[in-house]
Amino acid sequence: MVTCYIGIGSNLGDRENNIKKALTLLHGCLNTEVEKASAFYETQPQGCPGNAGRFLNAAAKIKTAFSPRELLRQLQSIEKQLGRIRPGKRNSSRSIDLDILFYNNQKISLPSLKIPHPRLRQRAFVLKPLKEIAPETIRSLAKETKIISTLSGMRGFIAKEKAQNMTIGFVPTMGFLHEGHLSLIRQAKKDCDTCVVSIFVNPIQFGPQEDYKKYPRDLEQDSILAKSAGASCVFYPNAKDMYPPDYLTYVNVEKITDYLCGASRPGHFKGVATVVTKLFNIIQPHIAYFGQKDYQQALVIRKMVEDLNMPITIKTMPIVRECDGLAMSSRNAYLTTQERADAVVLYQSLQKAREMVRQGQHDARIIKTAIKTAILKKKTAKIEYISVADARTLEDREVFRQKTLIALAVWIGRTRLIDNIIIEV
Ligand code: PAJ
Repeated sequence: MVTCYIGIGSNLGDRENNIKKALTLLHGCLNTEVEKASAFYETQPQGCPGNAGRFLNAAAKIKTAFSPRELLRQLQSIEKQLGRIRPGKRNSSRSIDLDILFYNNQKISLPSLKIPHPRLRQRAFVLKPLKEIAPETIRSLAKETKIISTLSGMRGFIAKEKAQNMTIGFVPTMGFLHEGHLSLIRQAKKDCDTCVVSIFVNPIQFGPQEDYKKYPRDLEQDSILAKSAGASCVFYPNAKDMYPPDYLTYVNVEKITDYLCGASRPGHFKGVATVVTKLFNIIQPHIAYFGQKDYQQALVIRKMVEDLNMPITIKTMPIVRECDGLAMSSRNAYLTTQERADAVVLYQSLQKAREMVRQGQHDARIIKTAIKTAILKKKTAKIEYISVADARTLEDREVFRQKTLIALAVWIGRTRLIDNIIIEV
């Protein structure tokens, strides 16, 4: 008997029951026993085919005497018994999906069977349940990523890369990576020879009542995801090195930080501009990547780079959304099932506003009222701000013209979410 790990997913019918049945059938196979199964994790569908529902994902550790091919055949037979139709479209809904993640320590590369599973490292929905039942496996996958945690180590790495004329792309993050972050990493890898991703939950950009302590963290999973998206290394400094006790210097971008999140989170952008300056000084990238999700942040960084003559190109990348439109965010992990359902109202209200403007309504007050009405229909929602502003200066606008930004900050339960769109009139 050898040890294998199986990835399990279902987003059609009675998902929980499908997974339970699959485990029972697997355990009932002649040559196989299920040793351990993870909890079931609710995840978003990937690739957004049609109106795919949310998945339940799990992982199982099994002992089997089947060969890899025989095991695959058994899994396919169980999928068939549970109503899976093959061949289905890529990413299509399925009552059950059973994948061999690992078969002992074997590497297999046949057209119909690749082990370890080739997309294992790109999929948070596989890594998370797997970590629960095989933490040592996740640890060894994470070790494949070069993690640099000292400032001098980071400088040394960059010096070597630059000595070989490598171009450096840089993606600053606070970790708990999702597809939004990964889209920046993929772009950096496309544009540059070397891609550095920093993971640092920056204490000085959080207010005293904010979520610094409980901000979600998972370095192992992040390392695996970052590398599989193209990161050459992860920079993971610690707060004591970044801000020693005698630390005194801050970077402050004026005026554009008076609006939107700057108004409701005093000191936030000073914390962001300071940490990004420090990271830029340590990493000295040619290009740095930011998401439009944090529109004001990207604007602040552009202004800072321009005003302080930093020799760095800033690229702003589009917002990556879940299939139902919710902008991806590490903080979405805080949402309960009900809150997650309500959270989609941010996107929906922005889409409604876009449509109203398209139909000729250019009065910002009327648009704001429509957004407010839509959002307040959700019991868990509390509005922090709805802003219609000049997309360049962030000054309030009364009428829509040229490039106008609509930006929202809304509390869904105890989670603060932001979203925005740019409308060109
Ligand atoms: P964090 O929230 O981890 O975001 C890191 C980068 O990913 C930011 O540039 C952000 O705009 C981008 N991003 C987040 N969600 C996205 C989405 N759904 N689509 C596209 N891009 C997305 O922003 C920060 O960290 C910090 O403030 C930081 C810049 C790292 C400074 O501490």
